[in-house]
Amino acid sequence: MNDRQSADGAAPSASEAVNGMTASLGKVVLASNNAGKLREFAALLDAAGIELIPQGALNVPEAEEPYPTFVENALTKARHAAKITGLPALADDSGLCVRALRGAPGVYSARYAQLAGGPKSDAANNARLIEQLQDHADRRAYYFCVLALVRHAEDPEPLIAEGRWPGEIIDVPRGAHGFGYDPYFFLPELNATAAELDPAVKNASSHRAIALRKLLARLTEEA
Ligand code: IMP
Repeated sequence: MNDRQSADGAAPSASEAVNGMTASLGKVVLASNNAGKLREFAALLDAAGIELIPQGALNVPEAEEPYPTFVENALTKARHAAKITGLPALADDSGLCVRALRGAPGVYSARYAQLAGGPKSDAANNARLIEQLQDHADRRAYYFCVLALVRHAEDPEPLIAEGRWPGEIIDVPRGAHGFGYDPYFFLPELNATAAELDPAVKNASSHRAIALRKLLARLTEEA
């Protein structure tokens, strides 16, 4: 019998497969202290038998995010948390990518205005975004999220999953939910900005949700 077969020789079901892999992961450190992310991620990973612990609860300081790509930053954060705690670690890195701005603000989404000498705030970031897009008719954009899961700090085979949530940037903000660029991020199929969506709807369809579902599928495959 190989390790992909159950005692009766049948191939394992998806949930058996996930549990086979995740049972060995058990507790996983989340390389973030964002309460919203913890809730979102914990809800889905709990179903796969993974217990998420925010890194702050284990006294892990925030890692630097010096790289120009999401995947490098996510991996760096996951390795940092795994190294300090000795536990498997999950990290995410995300941002808004605007086609007419060649992917900006991208990994610099949280500090977009700051890079131009402004304050670090959502309002200043949004103001810079709209100003940069003034002369551009192409308003296509997407939110992007990379998740990186390492079993230990030297894991040579981290699990990586990406989520892309397409929309377009509008000039006049709409909606009061969400955060960051959400009032300017319009979803034509839903005829709403991300800030107009019920938070539960956003959390089920966002770049983070897409990436997380892919990560769960990868865990199943790897089992
Ligand atoms: P983080 O990786 O979640 O810290 O996000 C980095 C930055 O990307 C945030 O500070 C926001 O500017 C932007 N961002 C990422 N996800 C979202 C989102 O769902 N809505 C709005 N802005 C987002």
